[in-house]
Amino acid sequence: MQDEENRKNPFASELTEYVQERKTFYCMPGHKQGKGAPSFLKKIWGDKVFGYDITEVSKSDVLAYPKKELKLAQERASSIMGAKRSWFLVNGSSVGIHAILGGLVDPGQKVLVHRECHKAVLMGLVFSGAVPIYLEPTPNLPEYAYGSIDLIKVEELLKAHDIKLVLVTSPNYYGISLDIPPLSELCHKYNASLFVDEAHGTHFSFHPDFPTPALKCGADYVVQSMHKTLGGLYQTALLHSASRNKRDDERVDLMLAMLQSTSPSALFLMSIDAALTETYEHGKKTYSLLLEMIETVRPMLNSEHFIVIEPSEGVLDAGGFIGFDQCKVIFAAAGPDERNLIKIKDKLSKEHGIEIELAGEKHLLLTLSLADADDIEQTRENLIYFSDTIEQMATDGVGEILEEDEYVDIRELPIFELTPRDAFYTSKKVMRLSEAEYALSSSMVCIYPPGYPLIIPGERINEAAIHKIYHDHRFGFTIIGITEKDGELYIDVIDEDDIEQ
Ligand SMILES: Cc1ncc(COP(=O)(O)O)c(C=O)c1O
Repeated sequence: MQDEENRKNPFASELTEYVQERKTFYCMPGHKQGKGAPSFLKKIWGDKVFGYDITEVSKSDVLAYPKKELKLAQERASSIMGAKRSWFLVNGSSVGIHAILGGLVDPGQKVLVHRECHKAVLMGLVFSGAVPIYLEPTPNLPEYAYGSIDLIKVEELLKAHDIKLVLVTSPNYYGISLDIPPLSELCHKYNASLFVDEAHGTHFSFHPDFPTPALKCGADYVVQSMHKTLGGLYQTALLHSASRNKRDDERVDLMLAMLQSTSPSALFLMSIDAALTETYEHGKKTYSLLLEMIETVRPMLNSEHFIVIEPSEGVLDAGGFIGFDQCKVIFAAAGPDERNLIKIKDKLSKEHGIEIELAGEKHLLLTLSLADADDIEQTRENLIYFSDTIEQMATDGVGEILEEDEYVDIRELPIFELTPRDAFYTSKKVMRLSEAEYALSSSMVCIYPPGYPLIIPGERINEAAIHKIYHDHRFGFTIIGITEKDGELYIDVIDEDDIEQ
């Protein structure tokens, strides 16, 4: 039995053997298999976890130049996911995004990106020096339908600019997926590579009822978080290439060698390997169980104040979307009044021990994963309990009622005057947010989660964005990129006097 397990997890079992065989360590890490680890942590975690916290010694191979078990493990990831090449990442999908932007695009070359991309993309643009051409969001879609694509607009931009790379997010945080095949065709017609941020769709390969994975739809590069929906530890992710351009892959290799730690912990690498193996073996059965339960329980979750959204109604036929991940359960506020759902989220956490993925302006988002198939009946009961609990809270008046005109949609493309990189390297000053209309932002402001930007470095700040930030701050959203002092909000802006001198 143990031999069978070892055969299925060759990389993880090589390391286990290594750890068990060695007794004396005259080498790093300083905690030496836990002997020197903080006793507080040993009490909580036990000794074992430290034993596996080893890095590039002997059998554990070298992440940046893998030749042995790690190379085999990455090749296996490629064959499971349908890629030509795969890389294990130990700094999340974020580092994969940075490596693609740094590796595939020269400073000054153009990248087509969605205005509603993850903040890691904008950090990658600062790092790479690529020039973004922003895709405008589709107006009048619900908040959970962010990241929509208008293919006609994409073609216009591809025609008008010499674009090296097109970067899209699919699925978005809410599991809504773009129609990738026609986008891929367009990109290739104009000699651009297509990179899909599939951070939330790593599990799509393991069941036919999920949206088709981007690698099967013609994407050239795809990044996937192993920790978001599969069983990997936080920080773990995969980057895949389906590209025929070997030079691009080589540059990605160099970028990852530059950006990733030279001491990646085997805890992360083993967790990628073992989580992939397990999902490959059992995923289809597990997801069948989970999806069947979700389908039957979904209609039972509606109440007077909340409706569980079926995005196929009204969203999938707009904005270039084609599929929806049923593991995302979206409770949209319904009924005569809409309330501050942050208050409901906080109360669920503090009084009921329930953590949810996020509370948005008009909805609550729950993420289910293969872990929830472990005891499927319990998960069904928990969902019904959840629905009853939030309904009771709404009936009891938790969260002040939102007035009709308070909802602010900022889906308009502001004026961009500097690239994120130029904005980053230009002198800044701090300004009251209330006085910042028309100032050039040097900050990236986003609500976290989901982490897509309200304001991008290099854009002229407009009134709608200011209004939205005040509104979201008042309702208790976590806002990154804004500071608060004595009840006033401040933002970093470009010191334009300094540019002119
Ligand atoms: C769409 C999207 N892309 C990329 C990332 C970054 O992923 P990671 O946390 O694995 O670095 C996130 C994180 O939330 C995300 O939502």
